[in-house]
This record gives sequence, structure tokens and C-alpha cells, in this order.
Amino acid sequence: AQGVLTPQRLAGRRILITAGPTREAVDPVRFISNRSSGRMGFAIAAAAQRMGAQVTLVHGPCGIPPPRGVLPVAVESAEQMLAAVQVAWPQSDAAIMSAAVSDYRPLQVAPQKLKKEAQGGQQIQWSLTENPDILAYAGANKQPGQWLVGFAAETEKLLQHGTEKRRRKGCDLLVVNDVSRQDIGFDATHNEVMVLGPGEDAVESWARCRKDEIAQQLMERLAACMETA
Ligand code: CTP
Ligand code: CA
Repeated sequence: AQGVLTPQRLAGRRILITAGPTREAVDPVRFISNRSSGRMGFAIAAAAQRMGAQVTLVHGPCGIPPPRGVLPVAVESAEQMLAAVQVAWPQSDAAIMSAAVSDYRPLQVAPQKLKKEAQGGQQIQWSLTENPDILAYAGANKQPGQWLVGFAAETEKLLQHGTEKRRRKGCDLLVVNDVSRQDIGFDATHNEVMVLGPGEDAVESWARCRKDEIAQQLMERLAACMETA
């Protein structure tokens, strides 16, 4: 019935989505992560699927079931997420990278559980190393006709930071989240975003609404971009 009533604006399009947090192992039982719920990315995957797209959803540990009809690829670390994206991106018409990728990971992963006793009650220091930037990888390896959508989490100077981030990562559209607010964004049901691009000066401010409504609007926006090409 869906195909009869809903125009399948993304029919035949292959869309890659990243979602959720990553986990960076410290030792066999511990990890560094963040508060991302994966809800925004899962809602985007569901919207794209409803609009007829063939969706690959590369996601970190979220604890919510992937939407029906999408191909889920479960990963843990940023490096695993990059490896999955390296496979899927060349075969995709568009990608939306909403994952909250951990910026750093422990330089070394302890092969055995770290023991307090070995520290003798002293402070411990961990060395962290920067993770690969998955969105920037996709931007640097974008083929003509491919569309790339990034997200930005900012607490200040949203427009300035968003504009710089869009340029730096080579994405067509960038969705800017204000993560200084508790009522929206990270680990929340609602969001209020700014959408930059595809033109240099194109800026839209979207009213606060549920993440599934933002997801639907974003996929309509992307579909419109893809239709112009
Ligand atoms: N991103 C990514 N790989 C990373 C870090 C971020 O793919 N290692 C992606 C996110 O999925 C998001 C975008 O890059 O689409 C922006 O993430 P954000 O954390 O806002 O920006 P960073 O480039 O990490 O910069 P900073 O956290 O310092 O603001
Ligand atoms: Ca970051």
C-alpha cells in the first residue's frame, strides 16, 4: 500500500547512513564512548527507506532495533566504522553521516584487564590518539554525482563553525546541532537544526520538532538536491 499512496522520491537510490556512538576499547572490559542515542540516524534510515531508498545503516552500539527494511551493519569502534564505510561509500548515491564518532581512542589497548593494584593508588594517565575522520574520508573520495551530508555538534558560533566544518569535510549539506541545550540534540527526542549548503551562502533554520520529522524533512531536502543533478 505504501508504494501506491506515497511518492517514492528516493526509489532506486542507494543511501549510506552512519549512526550512534562508537566505543573505543581501553582493555577487554572497558571503553570510551559518548551519550549519542542513535535516534537521529535511525530516524533518517527509516525515512529514506520509506521513500524507496536502498539503505545501508552502519551503526555503533545503540540498543534500539534498526528500522525494518534497511541493511544494518553493526560496528563498535571508529576504525571498524571507517572500514564499513570504505566498502559501502563507492556503491552509494548519497551518504548521511550522523554518527557521534569518538574523536580519540586509547593509543594502546591493554590485552588484559587493567588492575588497580599495579597503580599503587597513584593517578593514572592515558594517552589518546586521534581517530580517522569518516566524513572527511567520504568527502575526499566523493565521485561526481554522489551527495554527502554531514552533521556538526557545536556549543557556540554555530554558523561560523558549521560553515568551516562543511568546507573542511567536503560535504554538500551540513546539519548543525546546538549541543549546549539539554532539551534538544544529543540523547533527546527532539532537535532544532540549521542546514547549510549546498551553495556557499545557503542557510536554513528549522523549527524545533521531533527527530523523525527532522529526518523526513532532511530526506526531502536531499531528494530535491538529487533531482536537480
Ligand atoms: N565525524 C566522522 N569521523 C570522526 C569525527 C566526526 O565521520 N572521526 C563526522 C560526524 O559523523 C559528523 C561530522 O563529522 O557528521 C562532524 O562531527 P563533529 O564532532 O561535530 O566535528 P569534528 O570534526 O569531530 O570536530 P570537533 O568535534 O572538534 O568540533
Ligand atoms: Ca567530534
